[in-house]
Amino acid sequence: MKFFLDTANVSEIKRINDLGLCDGVTTNPSLIKKEGRDFKEVVSEIASFVEGPISAEVTAYDYEGMIDQARDLAKWASNIVVKIPMTEDGLKAINTLSKEGIKTNCTLIFSASQGLMAMKAGASFISPFMGRIDDMGEDGAKLIRDLRDIIDIYGYDSEIIAASIRNIRNLEDAALAGAHIATIPGNLFEKLWTHPLTSQGIDRFIKDWESFENK
Ligand code: E4P
Repeated sequence: MKFFLDTANVSEIKRINDLGLCDGVTTNPSLIKKEGRDFKEVVSEIASFVEGPISAEVTAYDYEGMIDQARDLAKWASNIVVKIPMTEDGLKAINTLSKEGIKTNCTLIFSASQGLMAMKAGASFISPFMGRIDDMGEDGAKLIRDLRDIIDIYGYDSEIIAASIRNIRNLEDAALAGAHIATIPGNLFEKLWTHPLTSQGIDRFIKDWESFENK
């Protein structure tokens, strides 16, 4: 399973990248705004040290606008993936861009049929939003399982990015449901490798070793 960082914060990305756990990065307009930095500047900085795919989202919602922005974004770095919203214009843009060899990540997917349309249009990645589905009282993990089944039955090339991951359970569910990738917020990552019993165990070993050495 691959892990992407769902953040535009360079320090968070560097920390996880140094652990060998960062296979790529996803950003969106909200995450860029949170950093308060110029869009191109921050994406270019991330691209200077992350080798895997970096999703940068269009902010236009009409076909022509999306295509213009996507062609520009794709020039920022060789590993840019253009994030396109799941709309009719978005599907048309994904179709055009895939024929031009520009990789796309179809975002804001909340149903299996939306995912299927994005795969068929030629999206390299599809992003079902697990957390926001769970927030509605529905089952985000089921959507991941359904999308994975569709890919396996028909042999589509699209990879599933489990997005909107809010907690450890979401990540574990995404892994078990067969998501190719999980995009994880920087502040959640540390919780994935920590456990109170691990910390307690280390404390006990330290105390025992110190008292042993003091004899
Ligand atoms: C990823 O591509 C999405 O932009 C992100 O996971 C959305 O997460 P949120 O629902 O926590 O905003």
